[in-house]
Amino acid sequence: MTSIRPLRVGLIGCGRISDIYLQNCQRFPEIEVSACASLTLEESRAKARQWGIETACLPEDIFADLEIDAVLNLTIPAAHAEISLQALAAGKHVYSEKPFATNLDDGLRILALAKEKQRLVGNAPDTFLGGRWQTLRKALDQGLIGKPTGAMVFVGTHGVERHHPNPDFYYQQGGGPLLDLGPYYLTALVFLLGPIARASGLARRTFDKRMIDNGPRQGQWMPVEIDTHSLSLLEFESGAIGSMTMSFDVWDSETPRLEIYGEKGTLCIADPDPVHGANIFQGPVLYRLQEHSRWSHQPRPQGRDHWLEVENTHGFNEDYRGLGLLDLAYAVQQHRPVRASGQLAQHVVEVMQGILEAPAKGGFVTIHSRCERPEPLPEDFPNARSEVAGRAA
Ligand SMILES: NC(=O)c1ccc[n+]([C@@H]2O[C@H](COP(=O)([O-])OP(=O)(O)OC[C@H]3O[C@@H](n4cnc5c(N)ncnc54)[C@H](O)[C@@H]3O)[C@@H](O)[C@H]2O)c1
Repeated sequence: MTSIRPLRVGLIGCGRISDIYLQNCQRFPEIEVSACASLTLEESRAKARQWGIETACLPEDIFADLEIDAVLNLTIPAAHAEISLQALAAGKHVYSEKPFATNLDDGLRILALAKEKQRLVGNAPDTFLGGRWQTLRKALDQGLIGKPTGAMVFVGTHGVERHHPNPDFYYQQGGGPLLDLGPYYLTALVFLLGPIARASGLARRTFDKRMIDNGPRQGQWMPVEIDTHSLSLLEFESGAIGSMTMSFDVWDSETPRLEIYGEKGTLCIADPDPVHGANIFQGPVLYRLQEHSRWSHQPRPQGRDHWLEVENTHGFNEDYRGLGLLDLAYAVQQHRPVRASGQLAQHVVEVMQGILEAPAKGGFVTIHSRCERPEPLPEDFPNARSEVAGRAA
């Protein structure tokens, strides 16, 4: 049962990530994927057959289809901006995979056109809408660890060639660990701590070529055009400070994925999953307060010398990619901002560009864009429908 009219969506980009989106869209009665397109009709047809999508076509057919409300842009990073701009020009709302754009100017053009056309722009990642991140945000907002003072993020992987059959684009301009993984964590950090005011960074490349290690192309070498080990320093507008490591060059590590430090304690996501890190929707949120810390004079209470777990209060505790599109479907009908918004994504792009440019600029880069700290999801979203139904009535 849904109280909103389904959003009619045209998918552009029928590659690897589209399956989880299509699987989840079939779970959301608020979304109806009526057409799919890619670079070739063969690819579009195969995807349409697989998921029972009515129309298989090319991108221009989706732009021309007056029945389609929104474009789901799951193309490769280099094509994101052009597809989003064409969709907006055709009067569609847009929800795109990350990164929002591969340069700031393209991002600004997308936001300007969306404003002119009065259309909504949403952007992945939407992992921060998952139960783990919403639980973490609630704990912060309720003051569990006091005023947040800092953050640490670490994701050390050995790239994507073990699991992606066509990983070339991850090692070309627009790819790399910062642009690929950074959006998950920077978006989550902005959701948790607010916008970033200054950024700096250092990066290096360990391998000039890498071997595809799965699928039909196993054994083929790919050139590496970008840096694959990136360190960043972040200063939030709130005064909190953070560090972030994103790497495709680390074989293993025991460093926790993400910690938030506060005046009264620490919140921690200590995810041992070496492939996905904490860029997933679900998982425990741990905390330890001042009185139970190793620095306390008080003896630690029995059984309290370990990390405690924050009770999870939210839904969407599995891979719910597309949840941001569901939020956009409601935003369209409720005339409210999207949570995983284009403004948030553009801010993240500017921060990443600042991190990449910092070594050449020899210091910190000031971040000019600002975005709202996104509203938390209601605990019973999307069943919190009475508001929508009430307005509609
Ligand atoms: N694969 C993953 O695990 C994963 C995870 C998270 C996010 N993403 C993001 O999702 C996006 C897509 O990744 P993927 O792994 O599905 O890629 P992919 O290479 O498997 O598929 C890309 C699809 O886009 C289409 N395409 C490319 N250029 C196009 C253009 N100019 N016009 C129309 N269609 C075009 C291709 O035909 C193909 O269908 C990327 O931005 C990536 O960063 C991927």
